[in-house]
Amino acid sequence: MALLQILTYPDPRLREKAQPVDAVDAQLRQFIDDMAQTMYAAKGIGLAATQVGVAKRVVVIDLSAERDRLQVLINPRIVARDGVQVCEEGCLSVPDVFEEVERAERVTVSYLDRDGQAQQMDADGLLAVCVQHEIDHLDGKLFVDYLSRLKQDRLRKKAGKRQREETRV
Ligand code: NI
Repeated sequence: MALLQILTYPDPRLREKAQPVDAVDAQLRQFIDDMAQTMYAAKGIGLAATQVGVAKRVVVIDLSAERDRLQVLINPRIVARDGVQVCEEGCLSVPDVFEEVERAERVTVSYLDRDGQAQQMDADGLLAVCVQHEIDHLDGKLFVDYLSRLKQDRLRKKAGKRQREETRV
């Protein structure tokens, strides 16, 4: 297994729309293992392939305290949504930013599992938030896109400053 590099805002690759996976094979499972390892190492609860620069519709999620309940969603699609909830979100690709975002309270998501089997899952609460956040990543969307124009301007300035500092030699 290998750790993958997590792209950070405003990297343009985070804006790419990911393509559906057409074969769940050994190579894909290797990539999924790398994604999981990368998510655990970064102490995240979810990671989308887009965030590691791979434009494929793959998501890993683990909300368990013990970090032993990995959920793999390949080609995830929300087929039903209901209700409204507001949750404070963060993102491994937008370090140090936590903001409230409004999302559906419950979603039903269809996907392929690690073995390529079609599955359907009902999610609510934090899992529903996570599923919506990660599928947004696959569509090139970030949680900060939901914030006010003013807050987005501030974030862009902050990210630009951070980038300049990182490239200083
Ligand atoms: Ni994220």
